[in-house]
Amino acid sequence: MKGRIIGISGPTVTVDIPDLKLYDRVRLGLERLQGEVVHLSSGRAMVQVYEDTRGLALGEPAEGMGRPLSAQLGPGLLTGIFDGLQRPLSRMAAVHGPFIRPGKLLSPLAMDQSWQFTPAPQIGDTVTAGEVLGTISEGSHQHPVHAAAAGTLTMIASGLVVLKEPIALLAGDIKLYAHEEWPIRQPRPYRQKLAPTAPLITGQRIIDFLFPLAKGGTAILPGGFGTGKTILEQAIAKFADVDVVVYAGCGERGNEMAEMLEEFGELADPWSGQRLMDRTILVANTSNMPVAAREASIYTAVTMAEYYRDMGCHVLLLADSISRWAEALREISSAMEEMPGEEGYPTYLASRLAGFFSRAGVVETMNGRIGSLSIILSVSPPGGDFTEPATQACLRTSGAFLMLDTALAHRRHFPAINWFQSFSLYDADMGSYFEKEVSPAWNRNRRKCQALLQRDEKLREVAAIVGADGLQDSDHLLLAVAERIRQDFLCQNSYSADAFSTPELTAEKINTIISWGEAAEKRLTDGEELADILSKDKP
Ligand SMILES: Nc1ncnc2c1ncn2[C@@H]1O[C@H](COP(=O)(O)OP(=O)(O)OP(=O)(O)O)[C@@H](O)[C@H]1O
Ligand SMILES: [Mg+2]
Repeated sequence: MKGRIIGISGPTVTVDIPDLKLYDRVRLGLERLQGEVVHLSSGRAMVQVYEDTRGLALGEPAEGMGRPLSAQLGPGLLTGIFDGLQRPLSRMAAVHGPFIRPGKLLSPLAMDQSWQFTPAPQIGDTVTAGEVLGTISEGSHQHPVHAAAAGTLTMIASGLVVLKEPIALLAGDIKLYAHEEWPIRQPRPYRQKLAPTAPLITGQRIIDFLFPLAKGGTAILPGGFGTGKTILEQAIAKFADVDVVVYAGCGERGNEMAEMLEEFGELADPWSGQRLMDRTILVANTSNMPVAAREASIYTAVTMAEYYRDMGCHVLLLADSISRWAEALREISSAMEEMPGEEGYPTYLASRLAGFFSRAGVVETMNGRIGSLSIILSVSPPGGDFTEPATQACLRTSGAFLMLDTALAHRRHFPAINWFQSFSLYDADMGSYFEKEVSPAWNRNRRKCQALLQRDEKLREVAAIVGADGLQDSDHLLLAVAERIRQDFLCQNSYSADAFSTPELTAEKINTIISWGEAAEKRLTDGEELADILSKDKP
């Protein structure tokens, strides 16, 4: 399938290759840039190019690859750092130098690395397509190797294997490999979706206690400039109680990703004690990388996440930030001269986002295991305006909304999650879980805490009008308790030992503050002086 370039408009290129299909991969020009078909009309196709199109000229050759943009899946993805097209950045740097040169490709998985393979069937056995040929161990993960075709086994490897060699042969010299390719825009199949029942513990007290997340659930972290989105996403990536974390740096600063890579190489996972990087996959499409690849990067990331989910793992996908992804979509859509919707975003922005969110969930996998994929996205609305289309589209489909507040960030109250505006649809189910598994007082203290924070807000409004002297002693006491909750419980400095709090510690901490408040209230009604109560026995 060969043809020529007949039009170029920014990151989109028109080609005259016949027989292309939507989302087919295309290589363009003398440098063989990578692209994907996004629009078809008779005799011509529009291609979204993932690399810089500068220098590309009309009449240069174009070739359809006959298959859609796919991710390579197999052992060795963990600890990897990839770009939006799943090019392995560290190995690319070793082979091609520190800059990604146009058209350069390298297999995402290290094809020469040896892995331990334990075969299931024997030579002479008949296997069906999709049947498990055996497993490869990657740390504590067992990768099932599926047969891509049916037939009679004439060879099956055992012990140390490398991915570039066939792992088995079928009669007729059909080669079977231990890795597979999966089209990134197509969700991987599962038997059935189940309701989320277990919490996704983040180690952030305000989230776990007030706005709990669920394994298999979705959440967004919208916040204006400098409100702590990146720090919070990275804190969750460090502390979440999951087996695998896929972190997509989408159009944000490159140095933040570099620091994260360095830090994750040294820190230990608080749950397993292993190196954090050993459970992490990074997808970097930072602000200095081509825009169109940023659009693909979240799909590359979610496909790798689904692959580990299918092994029965609990996987967390974080992306920072989805607004930069939406901007990439807008740029491509306008280059294609599509009819713009609200604020220039394409009219399908909301349905694309909903489709992406729907890849989260708890599932029974095709081989009967239970795995989960949770998605947390940060949103950076321009000017902190939450009514803009990308934030609104996310809001409609996500299960939790953790709003980062500029005023709190200015006061250095971090994480700057606003406790009045945020919500979690998982709170009732997860509250029952924590009440049963962690502390019987969990829900009672939660209600009490919410009531105190609400009353605190009202009293501070009143005090601002009538002055603090106009308040009663009981009001002053409530303000003191609420302040303890805000300062000692809701604030959590990411650069201190307090950065991570287990649910047990969270329950204990809030219980200490609330019990102190209740005891102090009683002493006040018993006639003790407020000043005495406040100066003594503070928790
Ligand atoms: N949990 C935290 N503990 C301590 N400091 C924090 C915390 N969260 C954020 N900060 C402070 O706020 C600053 C900005 O945070 P961050 O870079 O995460 O914001 P952002 O919302 O990602 O910003 P941008 O919109 O520019 O991407 C950090 O450099 C840090 O000083
Ligand atoms: Mg940021």
